Amino acid sequence: MRSLSADNSMSRRTALSRLGASALGLAFMNSSLFAHETRDEALRTRLPKFSDRSRALLSQVLEDPKFSGRIPASAVKALARSENVSVDDLMLGLLPLAQSYSRAPISNFFVGVVVRGASGSLYLGANIEISGQCLGFAVHAEQSALSNAYMNSEQSVTSLAVVGGAPCGHCRQFMEEISPAGEILILIPNQPPAKLASILPAAFGPAALGATQGALPTRKANLALTGGASDALTAAALDAACRSYAPYSKSPAGVAIRMTGRRIFQGCYIENVAFNPSLSPLQTALVQLIVAGQAYSAISAVTLVEVQGAKISQRAVTETVLAALAPHLKLKVVLARG
Ligand code: THU
Ligand code: ZN
Repeated sequence: MRSLSADNSMSRRTALSRLGASALGLAFMNSSLFAHETRDEALRTRLPKFSDRSRALLSQVLEDPKFSGRIPASAVKALARSENVSVDDLMLGLLPLAQSYSRAPISNFFVGVVVRGASGSLYLGANIEISGQCLGFAVHAEQSALSNAYMNSEQSVTSLAVVGGAPCGHCRQFMEEISPAGEILILIPNQPPAKLASILPAAFGPAALGATQGALPTRKANLALTGGASDALTAAALDAACRSYAPYSKSPAGVAIRMTGRRIFQGCYIENVAFNPSLSPLQTALVQLIVAGQAYSAISAVTLVEVQGAKISQRAVTETVLAALAPHLKLKVVLARG
């Protein structure tokens, strides 16, 4: 992996090994992030340089029952003040926490990302690999954190911090859809910040296929179920489909996952002009579940809503990935019309 500048680079692997394998392994080995340690112990392990006061502030954010990898703007301000650092440096400091959510059973390569939205909130993300499945199902940490900002209806993303080397080409292409002007600032420990436009020159952007704007700000389509009655999970999947971004296939889709604890996670389909970096709605929902510290084993039901007769269907890929994660579950597919 190349660094943004030739000198003074630290490889992602070096950075990761310095953080210690035991802390990083926790997230995917145990059913939930903090299964075998208290939240405060976990924060001490991952963020040893943070003050007790800052860790207490973070602990409060994490214990919100609705927490899903989002640190609200007010908490970001309080943390930056408490650590006496800029928000950019706070983002870099939070990378080991983001990284702890990584589920990488194939590569054992744990990547963490922190993204800053225009609202001032920060979003955590980490890479996800699906055991036994093709590598194409992997979600890169950059995609993970950006999809988290998308799910929270950020107007735009201003910066992205990533541990170790520079984002790969696939991620740069994904970022191009989030910020076609190339304005996102990439922050890497021990390297000068760089704008996306400078590390992805001559980009293949949304305009190539006639899209007039990128994925942000999010827009809401008006879809209605073809059938009659709807339950809460279907309503959540329909809402995710309405908020999805599918300008190229014109095939909006959304997923909702119900956990045994009744909590529901939504996932919007997010397309990319280069097609392959697109995120399926299940991938986006899995990010939400994982950065909330939840386990696949607690998935109790999954519903996909997509448009009847659309050019493409998410059904097959969603069934395949779901079969790998929760073999006992049957995907419910509900059709909508635009
Ligand atoms: N990975 C990222 O998350 N971001 C990058 O830009 C490079 C690669 C992940 C994908 C896969 O889970 C693992 O690292 C090995 O490539
Ligand atoms: Zn990547």
